[in-house]
Amino acid sequence: MDKVIDENVQGSALILDTSQENNRKLYIESYGCQMNFSDSEIVASILATEGFNTTDRLEEADLVLVNTCSIREKAETNVRKRLEKFNAVKKTKPHMKVGVLGCMAERLKSQLLEEEKIVDMVVGPDAYKDLPNLIREIDEGRNAVNVILSKEETYGDIAPVRLNSNGVSAFVSITRGCDNMCTFCVVPFTRGRERSRDPQSIIKEINELWQQGYREVTLLGQNVDSYLWYGGGLKKDYDKASEIQKATAVDFAGLLSLAARSQPKMRIRFSTSNPQDMTLEVVKTMAKYQNICNYIHLPVQSGSDRILKAMNRLHTRKEYMTLIDDIRTIIPECGISQDIIAGFPSETEEDHRDTLSLMDHVKYDFGFMFAYSERPGTMAARKLADDVPDEVKKRRLTEIIDLQRKHSLYRTKKYLGKTEEVLIEGSSKKSDAHWMGRTSANTVVVFPKEDYKVGDFVDVTISDCTSATLLGNAVGLSENNG
Ligand code: SAH
Ligand code: F3S
Repeated sequence: MDKVIDENVQGSALILDTSQENNRKLYIESYGCQMNFSDSEIVASILATEGFNTTDRLEEADLVLVNTCSIREKAETNVRKRLEKFNAVKKTKPHMKVGVLGCMAERLKSQLLEEEKIVDMVVGPDAYKDLPNLIREIDEGRNAVNVILSKEETYGDIAPVRLNSNGVSAFVSITRGCDNMCTFCVVPFTRGRERSRDPQSIIKEINELWQQGYREVTLLGQNVDSYLWYGGGLKKDYDKASEIQKATAVDFAGLLSLAARSQPKMRIRFSTSNPQDMTLEVVKTMAKYQNICNYIHLPVQSGSDRILKAMNRLHTRKEYMTLIDDIRTIIPECGISQDIIAGFPSETEEDHRDTLSLMDHVKYDFGFMFAYSERPGTMAARKLADDVPDEVKKRRLTEIIDLQRKHSLYRTKKYLGKTEEVLIEGSSKKSDAHWMGRTSANTVVVFPKEDYKVGDFVDVTISDCTSATLLGNAVGLSENNG
């Protein structure tokens, strides 16, 4: 990159932009949760105003950013492997700069600069607005680090640049951080305290997405049910808010209603819900608005009360099952998915069987299942021995995954012969002659393309299924189009 340096202004070096600077190429790769993918779109937007255009070709990048995940050890190992690959590319392109964003940046801070020589810049999840300054630093040959967590930042004022978008569904982030402190989880340390985004800016973004042709949004937060807007500030400081602020506060059920009403044909999804924070008001709001999808991702982690307590999940097995039963009473066709951890410290065979029996009760549509991975700095790492042997963790995980597959098939079979509204997202990965879309309950449907197009709402009659996919034929456009 060319720079003109004028040494005569007030004795300090002034860097003037040249036209070349408006042509730099940004390559950005994201790992981990949906929030990271959404954050990368915010980063791309911030850097677009600095003259960076995104590229999907690593070889032509001037700046390589990797938005990282720390949730399990393996997630971090994968990122370090990618850094090795970047290193190989940098050998042929010495001017290429590399930055690490996200949770690994926040967890490891400047230690990353020492451990991974290729890294020039380390930026935590609340510091992306500082990227223009940090890039100036690295352009001048210095390493740059900003890992300050914020009480206010929600990026509500940034219009994300949609990356790798299908043009149909988009993420809209509504809260940042998490105050729950589950003992196994690194997120409260890497993403800081919980704060909510101004509902006006959320609705504005949803309206703009509709105008751009998007037909589905997923409202994102580590704990969406905890959403609470009272004029800004941390969730934990709500008690100190004024009476007026409290009277006009918007909670998650309120936000869902606002979103559903402002775009009555836009499909609205949300993730992730937390059992202890999800109110029946939210479920009733889902039932009230046809465009809020009938799907809840409701991680349980374990079916054992003793383990739930050790995890600081703040609800019992019974309370979780009651919530599931209430959801099914209010929305009988609601899709429900889980996260489960196998082999949390001290987990016995009996605890594990409690998890399997809870799964039998719920019969989830699908799930995300993991072996426990100790994360440095968490309460579990500090207080509890990681004492379930690896082979036991693996065997329990396999049993959980096998049972889930059985339940998924039980759920998909229930669709046979039914007609479901599907929003077309793109071509099926396996066949270019077929579309892929989802039902309201988030189950994937594949069917012959005919004359339908991406973004259409189509009624599809289901004739066959696997445990993960429904197969069928379109019977016509659904009423929701237009
Ligand atoms: N509330 C967040 C949770 C993020 S972590 C959300 O938005 O989804 C996603 C899942 O990873 C958790 O629900 C949990 O099942 C799993 N997980 C978190 N920490 C873990 C650990 N230390 N070991 C194994 N799995 C973990
Ligand atoms: Fe992690 Fe528990 Fe929050 S899983 S993100 S601390 S709700």
